[in-house]
Amino acid sequence: MIELPVPGSDTRDIWEIYLSPTWMPALLVADELGVLDSIADTPCSSDELSARLGLNGRALGSVLALLAALGYLAPRHGRYHITDATRHHLLPSSPFYWGGVWVAMREHSPLYHQLRRALTTPDPVEALPQSSGRDERSVDGWASGSLSSEAAASMMKYMHSHSAAAAVAVAQSDLFSATRRLLDVGGCSGVFSIALADRHPGLSCTIMDLHAVCELTPEYVKERGLEDRIDTHAADMFRDPWPQGYDAVFLSNIFHDWRPATCLELAKHAFGALTPGGTINVHEMLLNDDAAGPRTAAAFSVLMAASTQGQQFTFAQLESLLGDAGFVDIGCHSTSPLHSVVRGRKP
Ligand SMILES: C[S@@+](CC[C@H](N)C(=O)[O-])C[C@H]1O[C@@H](n2cnc3c(N)ncnc32)[C@H](O)[C@@H]1O
Repeated sequence: MIELPVPGSDTRDIWEIYLSPTWMPALLVADELGVLDSIADTPCSSDELSARLGLNGRALGSVLALLAALGYLAPRHGRYHITDATRHHLLPSSPFYWGGVWVAMREHSPLYHQLRRALTTPDPVEALPQSSGRDERSVDGWASGSLSSEAAASMMKYMHSHSAAAAVAVAQSDLFSATRRLLDVGGCSGVFSIALADRHPGLSCTIMDLHAVCELTPEYVKERGLEDRIDTHAADMFRDPWPQGYDAVFLSNIFHDWRPATCLELAKHAFGALTPGGTINVHEMLLNDDAAGPRTAAAFSVLMAASTQGQQFTFAQLESLLGDAGFVDIGCHSTSPLHSVVRGRKP
């Protein structure tokens, strides 16, 4: 078990560095698509603005949450208002408008182009995710249930680094000290299962992921000598049957890749995989209830809106989603300064 010293386990700085490149694209799209002008004219909710401007509500919600976290919007009674910072620098009518800079910045920001496409493309109606056909992002392979070995290997390295500290924090929380069989959905390199099995000698884990990923996961597991308690199950989580008989289903950074309707389908599959009394555990970076921050979660939401089919959630949104899938006693457990596990029980 890797015991992280405090404050070494506080990863807020590295997350801020990782996610601050979303700030500028969020400002650029808001400027170009008339978001701030429209709110200055008539304060409104995210849904009202999405209808008014014909923009994708999921992506717009993420952009507005980040602009609020950065101090350019203020939520009051369910509506966003512009702040003085916006009035001075972000409205074309101001003598101090930064519009001349924005035009040049747009040319140099691939993330801006991705975010703009997310905002101007409506979501499909069906819950089953589809590939965009552009094949340039991991999420397209994930949506179609097929990933090349090369794409799997580089994605696994990325996710292993990205999640290592959060995984140890979940293990240290002892939320799983009474769990015997855990299904780690989209478990990737096994970064969470390894930390959990390391901490809890009575725990066995199954990592469910796409075939190309499951081919490589055993290398990570063997490195920690845990192959007798961690196995893999290759499956497309959207189309294949899920294995059954677990007392916990764990989904880390899975819901944030998909639309709420898709997440509901995943939650229903999790329900079917659990024995009565078993728990679903959704590990995510949560937005505040008013979706106006925290800044890191709001920036993560913009990154997800631009690069996947998802967004970050508030606890209330996940509570409602898990309730719709049949779970009860839904609660939120903070496992690090940034991450939480939202847990529900199968009656
Ligand atoms: C964002 S990563 C999360 C990895 C890990 N749970 C973590 O938090 O670090 C998403 C994971 O879901 C897996 N995944 C995506 N689509 C899938 C599908 N259709 N079926 C099974 N696994 C899938 C990916 O291969 C990847 O390992």
